[in-house]
Amino acid sequence: MKKVMITGCLGQIGSELVERLRKDLGAENVIATDVRQPEAGSPILTEGHFEILDVTDYEKFKKIAEDNHVDTLVHLAALLSAVAEAKPKFAWDLNMGGLENALEVARELKLLFFTPSSIGAFGPSTPADNTPQDTIQRPTTMYGVTKVSGELLCDYYHKRFGVDTRGVRFPGLISYKTLPGGGTTDYAVDIYYEALKKGHYDSFIGKGTKMDMMYMPDAIDAIVDLLNADPSRLKHRNAFNISAMSFEPEEIKASIQKVMPNFTMDYDVDPVRQGIADSWPNSLDVSCAKEEWDFSPKYDLDKMTVDMLEKLRIKLGDEAKF
Ligand SMILES: NC(=O)c1ccc[n+]([C@@H]2O[C@H](COP(=O)([O-])OP(=O)(O)OC[C@H]3O[C@@H](n4cnc5c(N)ncnc54)[C@H](O)[C@@H]3O)[C@@H](O)[C@H]2O)c1
Repeated sequence: MKKVMITGCLGQIGSELVERLRKDLGAENVIATDVRQPEAGSPILTEGHFEILDVTDYEKFKKIAEDNHVDTLVHLAALLSAVAEAKPKFAWDLNMGGLENALEVARELKLLFFTPSSIGAFGPSTPADNTPQDTIQRPTTMYGVTKVSGELLCDYYHKRFGVDTRGVRFPGLISYKTLPGGGTTDYAVDIYYEALKKGHYDSFIGKGTKMDMMYMPDAIDAIVDLLNADPSRLKHRNAFNISAMSFEPEEIKASIQKVMPNFTMDYDVDPVRQGIADSWPNSLDVSCAKEEWDFSPKYDLDKMTVDMLEKLRIKLGDEAKF
């Protein structure tokens, strides 16, 4: 990996991945793209190369990759779970159409390829505890349907055309730099913002609902480590189970209360996102990622909470009233 193109770079993951890869590879070796124009003066524009790209436009997609002589493609542009459930046809067209274009560009230009799948690629018939790497995948959401189809398509491009495709099933990602894009696990980000702004949070996910989660620095490390992994060690490719922690709302509340003892939480459950959460695993078995490319996350729940509250307090400034 010497020169990388990233799609959907203004999102929760992309904004932090661009920063990391610009440091690792040099700003001139990261071609950041998104369908949206970044805010004037934002570092994504001022500190490196940015281009507008709608991933459903194959000709422009290929031209940007070709003109910039990239050797690696990280495809992030997609619609997330809750938004995809609201617009299922649009989600199918974007998630599958964009991925097909990305894989074709990778095939034609012989690029190393990474795209994330999700815990959403599992469904209610998947074993919920210690969910194996290879298991039943019958998701009941449009997001999940696109994610499991995407995993299969990436495996197909690897086996049929020899494209070096790699991927992970991300759990809910928690971060303070860029707000999440409309996923089911977003409550675990919102809760930190509300703790600092109001000292209170109404959780849209119900008591007892366990889901896998990971702090963004570990997620970015996972992308970079898997892209740098020795391909001869990879028995799996699309996509590895990864997770750093599994908790339910009461546990994240308790973790925040260790730092902010007066923090309170109630429930105002959203049936749509609760339904999605109920169809997902409680906790993943990540042993294949550990064995095949030494996956080892650094943050557990309490360590993440301390860092999130500290960094968010700085970011929120006067808005942080508690
Ligand atoms: N964030 C998570 O918790 C999480 C968990 C599991 C998997 N994932 C996966 O990781 C990937 C990135 O997620 P994210 O959280 O950064 O998403 P996000 O919603 O924060 O960002 C997606 C970005 O894609 C861009 N985009 C939308 N349509 C586009 C188009 N037609 N062409 C180009 N760009 C377009 C958006 O402008 C946005 O900047 C997705 O595939 C998602 O499914 C994320």
